[in-house]
Amino acid sequence: MTSAIAAIAHSNIAFIKYWGNRDNALRIPSNGSISMNLNGLYSHTQVTFDPALESDRLSLGGKEVAGAALARACTLLDQIRNLAGLRAHARVISYNNFPTGTGIASSASGFAALTLAASRAAGLDLAEAELSRLARLASGSACRSIPGGFVEWRAGHDHASSYAFSIAPPEHWDLRDCIAVTSLAHKPTTSQEGHALADTSPLQAARVSSAESRLQVCREAILTRDFDALAQVAELDSNLMHAVMMTSTPILMYWLPATVLVMHAVQEWRRGGVPVCFTIDAGPNVHVLCPASEAEAVIQRLNQLDGVIQVLSAPPGGPARIVASGLE
Ligand code: DP6
Repeated sequence: MTSAIAAIAHSNIAFIKYWGNRDNALRIPSNGSISMNLNGLYSHTQVTFDPALESDRLSLGGKEVAGAALARACTLLDQIRNLAGLRAHARVISYNNFPTGTGIASSASGFAALTLAASRAAGLDLAEAELSRLARLASGSACRSIPGGFVEWRAGHDHASSYAFSIAPPEHWDLRDCIAVTSLAHKPTTSQEGHALADTSPLQAARVSSAESRLQVCREAILTRDFDALAQVAELDSNLMHAVMMTSTPILMYWLPATVLVMHAVQEWRRGGVPVCFTIDAGPNVHVLCPASEAEAVIQRLNQLDGVIQVLSAPPGGPARIVASGLE
């Protein structure tokens, strides 16, 4: 039996979204994306390879998991076993310190932490780009939770060319993601199912063909800490992705009435001079971005809105990393 290795990886919020794949099996995305890791929102994952096990075992938040989630983890573990020349099955014990299945990307942090912990437990010491490629095979957004801070995932055209890297460290820009939670229910359609529908929307081609210019604006906004430019491009990109979702067959509608209420409020605050903007993933929660200096006031305002259950807040986070095993 190998010794237990544990890793932590942060969730991330995309400013320029990944939606739709050119290759679903390899998760080569239709367009590149840019995100910020979320400090304090993480998955902690411990892996032990044990020849006595007859199959891989996965415990998530204290519950033994089977079915699709286990199968996805096994596929990633198979890749790692192949690279390491290992046959033993793995015991994986993972938990998230934030609500899962609500559009706060738990697959991103979970699979990034699993990639790092499992590869180390298998005796591999892989470079960041290789860890990012492996994590991508399990969940696209997970490849962005391997590097630290502000991260870009170049779409690439094959397994080797599609991976994420840091464009600025966490301390580069003291932003806050204030997450207005409007529902704790599990989302009805997973991102994986959603990506497969993206090309059924007549708007997806327009979204993808114009993505490069938004990536450029977003990259530049981050590098120059230009909040206004970030606000414009992040809201545009989020709306474009949701327009694709809403015009797919079948229709995907992740927004709740409270989601729209928060979007209106954020725009009104910005018109009133507060540097703030929204972005929404595949769920009803609204990620409200602002400079750290505004966060307290923004959180207070969000808490006063009807339908906002709670507000989580996160500064930029570091890379996936190995931690002492056991619960933190
Ligand atoms: C809306 O990475 O969760 O959050 O690759 O199937 O695991 P899979 O999908 P996932 O999709 C994330 C979609 C998004 C946008 C983003 O994070 O870029």
